[in-house]
Amino acid sequence: MRIEQPRIVAVLPELGVELRAETSLAALTSLGIGGTTDLLRVRKHLFLPQLIQLLKSEGIPFRFLGGGSNLLVANGELPWVMLQLVAGDPEIRLEGNYAFVDAAADLGRTVTFCAKNNLGGMEGLIGVPGTVGGALRMNAGAYGTQMGSFVREVKVYRAPTGEIETLRGEEIRFDYRHTSFAADDIMLAVKLELPSKAYPEIVKGIRICNEKRRASQPIGQKSAGCIFKNPPGASAGRLIDELGLKGFHVGDACVSDRHANFFINRGTSSCADMLALIAAVREKVRSNYGVELEEEVVVWRA
Ligand code: EPU
Repeated sequence: MRIEQPRIVAVLPELGVELRAETSLAALTSLGIGGTTDLLRVRKHLFLPQLIQLLKSEGIPFRFLGGGSNLLVANGELPWVMLQLVAGDPEIRLEGNYAFVDAAADLGRTVTFCAKNNLGGMEGLIGVPGTVGGALRMNAGAYGTQMGSFVREVKVYRAPTGEIETLRGEEIRFDYRHTSFAADDIMLAVKLELPSKAYPEIVKGIRICNEKRRASQPIGQKSAGCIFKNPPGASAGRLIDELGLKGFHVGDACVSDRHANFFINRGTSSCADMLALIAAVREKVRSNYGVELEEEVVVWRA
């Protein structure tokens, strides 16, 4: 979708918003799949309500993009524009055991920055790709650590009021890969409380997690991490693996040889290929085990 209304184009610079016309979502997602649309890069949280108001008044549909690491997007010209936050400078500010982090900050960089300042706890999250906001919205987790455990406050844009609000940690429910945020909430910044820990000790934990991940996950290939949530008491990866589905593919969408819950774009997979692979694997798991797998990856169909 193109933004052509002169009224909007003229006002964007005043709101600190950069317009990148006809941007490819394939380039902005870790799966490398997705069509094109205009991208609005938002530098100042403060102006987000005004920008959204403007888009609504002109009837321009929009979606919000984080780090693009858990996202499968339709091909072709997309029927909405994209909004994406640009991290502030600095993107992280520390105050004792508290870290004030921009939602647009990279999660891995945040973990290492805090580690260098002797703040630990997040070692398990080190290899999780994406932004702090994305990790927060879906309560990302790995190796026994979940993002939600550290959250004390969240600054969020709320669609019903059109305003920026600050929520206390206790007001938010964090479950397995799920939170009580509304679908149209936009994460802006978060206050984390992290335990004091000596840097060398944190680095040890980070190395262990990195090694485990390298040994079991297809690092460096185009994926969206795990495609399905684990069903209660079981591992989706193991179930898919036991059915002999590693390497099973639809076009260039392929079940990873390394971890069966990672689906890889091994070249020029389309969104339809990936959706067909997801449907086929889900059906095989359903018919063999009677288990209904739920997607963890977020799908944007056009
Ligand atoms: N397994 C297999 N074959 C496979 C994959 C796994 O037999 O192809 C077995 C493993 O040997 C192990 C068990 O299944 O005994 C569990 O595997 P793993 O330790 O890799 O963990 P997982 O449950 O598959 C979860 C998260 C990952 C996270 C890891 C590490 C989900 C859906 N996945 O995977 O998160 O990195 O634990 O903590 O909760 C993600 O959310 O995108 C993600 C990758």
